[in-house]
Amino acid sequence: MKLMKLQSIRGMNDIAGSESFLWRYIESKVRKVFESFGYQEIRTPILEPTELFKRGVGDSTDIVEKEMYSFEDRNGESLSLRPEGTASVVRALNQHSLTQDSPVQKLYYIGPMFRHERPQKGRYRQFYQFGAELFGVKEAMADIEILNIQYSLLQALGVSDVSLNLSSLGCSVCRPPYRELLIEAMTEVEGDLCEDCVRRKEKNPLRVFDCKVEKCKKIAKHLPKMLNHLCEDCEEHFNQVRDGLVALKIPFEVNENLVRGLDYYNRTAFEFIYSGDLLGAQATVSAGGRYDSLVSDLGGRDCPAVGFAAGIERLAFLLEDLKSKLEPAVDLYFVLPDREGVTRALQISNQLRSRGVRVEVDLQLKKMKHQMKRANKLRSRYVLILGSEEIKNNLAILKNMSDGTQEEILLTRLEESLLDRFKTTNNYKY
Ligand code: HAM
Repeated sequence: MKLMKLQSIRGMNDIAGSESFLWRYIESKVRKVFESFGYQEIRTPILEPTELFKRGVGDSTDIVEKEMYSFEDRNGESLSLRPEGTASVVRALNQHSLTQDSPVQKLYYIGPMFRHERPQKGRYRQFYQFGAELFGVKEAMADIEILNIQYSLLQALGVSDVSLNLSSLGCSVCRPPYRELLIEAMTEVEGDLCEDCVRRKEKNPLRVFDCKVEKCKKIAKHLPKMLNHLCEDCEEHFNQVRDGLVALKIPFEVNENLVRGLDYYNRTAFEFIYSGDLLGAQATVSAGGRYDSLVSDLGGRDCPAVGFAAGIERLAFLLEDLKSKLEPAVDLYFVLPDREGVTRALQISNQLRSRGVRVEVDLQLKKMKHQMKRANKLRSRYVLILGSEEIKNNLAILKNMSDGTQEEILLTRLEESLLDRFKTTNNYKY
């Protein structure tokens, strides 16, 4: 019987080598920026009851209708790999009554999400998001902060050519009458709409603005828009959000066709869209909005909320040029021509490492040429040669790999002199 070739699942990637350095760079910037705004990390399970996403994301969304990885576990319970982070964070907020002691909660997360979409550049079945959720503030200041975090992050990462699209989806006062109006207008042109739009008309009519079918796109232009039917409170909220963005000098465009693929939003909705040519069709790098009823819909108290999530793969594409600059080189490589220098090398290397120097000791003791080649490959700044010959002469040879110069160091002063030379390197101190 021929054995199956083992490979990763389609749309699920290994992140390794220089790619993983880039990811760590992105993640460390993300943590710094989130924490500078007072957000604390939350880690929720990757598996949740399917019911959470049905009720949270909405069972007429593409995500719940056709993209979730759901299965029955051994107890017959339906579980799903999380397709996004917001519903899980809200579930945790409710489960641990987090807003009881401190009514304003600022939480962030970084981790893998799963959606069974058709894989293409920038769209995967396992992908990574980082996101922030702000609970307990109904004022527009919260929306402004969430937008500010994303803009600050894009700036800190050096991502350019991204524009912010902004809209308001109304609230429980103005959306229902607008919805009726939209359904009425869609019914008039029903014969010209695609099957999906007709099917979703009653349950989720706003999806027509997201439809990719050309004839629906044309029709959508002339359908009534939520932005023209906001109630006074929503209008005021939207104006305040815009004023905040102006004050922060964050450029944006109001996009009256903006709808989101998840059902929980009300009022502010936004997407940061990349306009260059590095991403192809999957150009939204970060997105989110306000969701004031999700906490209570999932069994908690009334609690306003707003948040966003961004895709790490998409950002990594935009920052690819950084890869070569990020991979750390080794500071010192011990070349050991024979076993004589092993004990000393092991001891000194640990002293250096605990002071933050990146040290590798050759593990195979192959020929000198082979060891030097490996040191070169690792882009080691220095090489220390320590074998029986050197020990006999009471010295070790330190080679500077960038200019090829060599110096002899007395063995009696070896630790001292190496510690002195590398004292300014402390990137990896532990
Ligand atoms: P979303 O728009 O579904 O929102 O996803 C947010 C971001 O995740 C997207 O803009 C994109 O960068 C990335 N993303 C989504 N799907 C994929 C995929 N298949 N492959 C690669 N990247 C992807 C949410 O998930 C909401 N939970 C955002 C939110 C947080 N709203 C409020 N709080």
